[in-house]
Amino acid sequence: MSDPREDATDAGRLWGGRFATGPDEAAWALGVSTAFDRKLWREDLAGSRAHARELHRIGVLDADELEAMLSALDRCGQLFAADEFPLLPSDEDVHGAIERWLVDELGPLGGKLRAGRSRNDQIANDLRLWCRSACDGLVGLIGELQEALAGQAADHLEWLAPGYTHLQRGQPVLLSHHLLAYVWMLDRDAGRLRDARARLDASVLGSGALAGTTLGLDPARYAEDLGFAAVAENSMDAVASRDFAIEVVSACAILAVHLSRLGEEIVLWATSELGFARVGDAFSTGSSIMPQKRNPDVAELVRGKAGRVVGDLVSLLTLVKGLPMTYDRDLQEDKEPVFDAVDTLRLVLPAITGTVASLSFDRDRLEQAAMGGFALATDLAEELVRRGVPFREAHEVVGEVVRLAESRGVDLDGLDPDELAEAHPALDPGVADLLDARAAVDRRDANLGTATSSVRTQLDRARAAAAANRAAI
Ligand code: ARG
Repeated sequence: MSDPREDATDAGRLWGGRFATGPDEAAWALGVSTAFDRKLWREDLAGSRAHARELHRIGVLDADELEAMLSALDRCGQLFAADEFPLLPSDEDVHGAIERWLVDELGPLGGKLRAGRSRNDQIANDLRLWCRSACDGLVGLIGELQEALAGQAADHLEWLAPGYTHLQRGQPVLLSHHLLAYVWMLDRDAGRLRDARARLDASVLGSGALAGTTLGLDPARYAEDLGFAAVAENSMDAVASRDFAIEVVSACAILAVHLSRLGEEIVLWATSELGFARVGDAFSTGSSIMPQKRNPDVAELVRGKAGRVVGDLVSLLTLVKGLPMTYDRDLQEDKEPVFDAVDTLRLVLPAITGTVASLSFDRDRLEQAAMGGFALATDLAEELVRRGVPFREAHEVVGEVVRLAESRGVDLDGLDPDELAEAHPALDPGVADLLDARAAVDRRDANLGTATSSVRTQLDRARAAAAANRAAI
């Protein structure tokens, strides 16, 4: 093969004329981005089609030239789709590669497409388009996970579970209430992606390198052609800014962290120590040495992947920090973190969705844990409040009752009525009826509470939210 730097002095490179020699080998190797930016071929070709139509409108391409250009761009797309596009070592980036191919294909006509645009507005356009559909896809995948969680919540609607703070038993809840908590975290993740999408939905073509162009290209027509909701207000901002990508990756990082928490819970539930849930065979793995093992690897990997998505966000923020206006070549480094964050979540979301759907819960173990650990102490204290005792005093009294029960090795319902009455006269035998986990759950019947009636209506809202997100696919 010939030296790519020699090829790069003509068709493969977009800027040879000014230089006496081709670039240094190490410099060229550092700058080549086709290995990752080829992923933007669809968006780049869409931008080129819109640009060809604008060039025709202003008279730079005649009707035959436009037709030849559009059909060449279609053929180019077919090659990429079939993974047969011939990327050469002399291609610096996807934009240069496509222009080189067009010149091979169309002769001098292929060289006309560059008029009035720059790779600076081209890459900003491509990445915006890519992020726009990435957001839609992720919102749809979130909807599927929400459906799996809501499905499990519906199937176990009245099951009791321990509710924790500090990973210590706090108060009993419905398992469904716990599962639906994730639906709402995920719903905000979907909301953040939708917000990011709405803000990035502005067209930047017509900005050229940074200042706009002299050719009379109409930014509004690009916007219409590419389905953007708006046109950027300022060509310098348009080519220099990457906050749109940072927002998408930031939403991805928060989402990945939520999924990691869910993964961690599944890992805990599946331990023999807790034994609250079993992960389905298809989402478990064995050990190469310990034949008895049943490991929740998928949930662990979901937890582990959060680290790299957070890293992607840090990479992007650090990249953009300190860049003077407008385009700086550093910005070529924006693509890999964006792709990595989105691709990681595209991998993770279906896997955790399947894992959630595969869970089988152990009703007895959940119920036992829900009832133990003095989980009804707050109920007892709140009953004292209803009977006129200041909460500060009620808290003390019930604390003493718990200490007594603990020293006896029983739970609150294991104490004699006399012993309770001794702790406080308001703790009459009637309070025994309070010491029932299901009744305790169902007393919490505000909208956001864990009562069966509240959770039923919450489930309807959760399902509606899931369906709205799914529809984004
Ligand atoms: N490959 C470049 C990038 O990804 C395209 C823009 C190059 N612009 C330039 N002035 N060299 O950012």
